Amino acid sequence: MGILGGKAVMITGAASGIGEATAKEAAAEGARLMLCDVDAEKGAAVAAAIGAAAIYRDCDVTDEAAVQAAVGATVDELGAIDGAFNCAGILGVVGPIGELPLDGWKQLIDVDLNGVFLCTKHQVNAMAAQGSGSILNMASAAGLIGWPGASGYVAAKHGVVGLTKAAALEYAAAGVRVNSICPSYTLTPMVEKDLFEDTLGNDEELIAAARANHPIGRFAQPPEIAAAAVWLLSDKASFVTGIAMPVDGGYTAP
Ligand SMILES: NC(=O)c1ccc[n+]([C@@H]2O[C@H](COP(=O)([O-])OP(=O)(O)OC[C@H]3O[C@@H](n4cnc5c(N)ncnc54)[C@H](O)[C@@H]3O)[C@@H](O)[C@H]2O)c1
Repeated sequence: MGILGGKAVMITGAASGIGEATAKEAAAEGARLMLCDVDAEKGAAVAAAIGAAAIYRDCDVTDEAAVQAAVGATVDELGAIDGAFNCAGILGVVGPIGELPLDGWKQLIDVDLNGVFLCTKHQVNAMAAQGSGSILNMASAAGLIGWPGASGYVAAKHGVVGLTKAAALEYAAAGVRVNSICPSYTLTPMVEKDLFEDTLGNDEELIAAARANHPIGRFAQPPEIAAAAVWLLSDKASFVTGIAMPVDGGYTAP
């Protein structure tokens, strides 16, 4: 029996990157899983790779009815909702704030912040009714410090850290823990394609400069973030609530 043995856990953004790695780690630690994403093909493939412990369900985190239905389906099909990792997110619009288009800003806030709000809202109600649960919201190192060229992303992730603290205070007495996690650069499609390739043009100097900002001397691999996420979801973290936990190779330590 692993540290999530017998637990029913919902994960958004489970089709790729950190969400996918966390789904696999959570299953290895004994969880039964409701995997949600907007990429049905990849999401179903992740569930199939895990096997009988995982169900895939389409859920756009910006759609409140879909989020509410996914939380309900977790309870109906897995018998409870003991844990939830709200990991879905996008890099979104990049560039100096003086040049950011409003529609790009709104899309970023909608997915990265409003999506976490909607998931937390419906999960916390279901967990409070049970009298227990652990919610983990995906923030970022960009939820703790500023990144030039990414003001929308930074604003959304600082918002996730803030709403997580408020929700933790509101629901601690109801038995629900609410935390956020703050990775730095992790080698997923968001970083390798959206950031390195599409934004930085695979410029070796810029990528080396980003790597050099990590005292550990390298970028993270998704399973290194997944290990921390699974611990925060589990009862091993039973006295932990309201934190924004850096998992960043020392990136935010200076
Ligand atoms: N990779 C990093 O360096 C890093 C660092 C800090 C935080 N994060 C955060 O981690 C999370 C996962 O990022 P990743 O790097 O694994 O990226 P990824 O692109 O590999 O995975 C993101 C997943 O979210 C899904 N998604 C996007 N919009 C959605 C929506 N509206 N509803 C449901 N699912 C949606 C995508 O389909 C994809 O499967 C994001 O919130 C990201 O901001 C990533």
